[in-house]
Amino acid sequence: MCLERPALYQQSEVNFWNDKHISKQMLAAHLNPDFDGASRKLCFIDRSVKWIAETIPFSNHPRLLDIGCGPGLYAERFCKMGYTVTGLDFSRRSIEYAKDSADRQDLDITYIYQDYLKMNYSNMFDLATFIYCDYGALSTKNRAIILRKIYQTLKIGGKLVLDVFSMVKYNDFEEIKTWNVHEHGGFWSAEKYLSLKAQYKYPDNVTLEQTAVITNSGIREYCIWNCCFTLEILLKEASEAGFGKFEVFSDVTGKSYTENSPTIAVVLEKSS
Ligand SMILES: C[S@@+](CC[C@H](N)C(=O)[O-])C[C@H]1O[C@@H](n2cnc3c(N)ncnc32)[C@H](O)[C@@H]1O
Repeated sequence: MCLERPALYQQSEVNFWNDKHISKQMLAAHLNPDFDGASRKLCFIDRSVKWIAETIPFSNHPRLLDIGCGPGLYAERFCKMGYTVTGLDFSRRSIEYAKDSADRQDLDITYIYQDYLKMNYSNMFDLATFIYCDYGALSTKNRAIILRKIYQTLKIGGKLVLDVFSMVKYNDFEEIKTWNVHEHGGFWSAEKYLSLKAQYKYPDNVTLEQTAVITNSGIREYCIWNCCFTLEILLKEASEAGFGKFEVFSDVTGKSYTENSPTIAVVLEKSS
């Protein structure tokens, strides 16, 4: 299996968000304030929340849904700014951490353990955030599903803040194959393992990082897909989901849009 280039959007055999060992590594990555791995660095998150609160203030957009909220780094900051926050994530470990952290700080945040592709809310939220390029990790079909669900979730006049990787990222991506022995375990397994990693480029700006993890117990394979976007493609998908108005930035701190930025951020509005 690891010898072949997988079919487009072939999924990992295991849901790694809830794997006991991997979810622990993932949470540690989220909580590392100086690492851009699972969440962005805390200084970026602070600037991002400040910009969102200034441009879409809680006074006219009070109810906020943070989609793929992880351990609540954004959700807590939004709550402290005055929003009524619901955070939703499919990692049980992240949601448990987020709930404990909110309790410790006496923050009134609703956290929901759920697959965002299965969420079903109608006209409930004034503002939704879907941050750190998770949109591009979805297949074309699932991107259409999530954008329609978010549209349905929002009230008229409600806004979505969303970011994706741009073509800069796709153009820099190299098709390479590497292997490593992890004597004392590592990100993918607690036991000693050999990792075989292959990076592939696919048509339509899609990339794959495929990792085969070989331990004494067997072989597991993980696929991390990413679609990179031109502004035109992103806005086409947004308009197909029903969003009528948009603003464009380079990132979710509100930096002016340029084609050279590795990310594109949009604020989409449900206008009717
Ligand atoms: C790249 S992280 C970003 C986390 C957070 N937005 C941030 O910027 O700190 C993506 C998050 O989406 C969550 N996630 C991935 N697939 C999901 C799904 N189908 N339903 C709900 N959450 C999901 C992951 O557990 C993870 O916390």
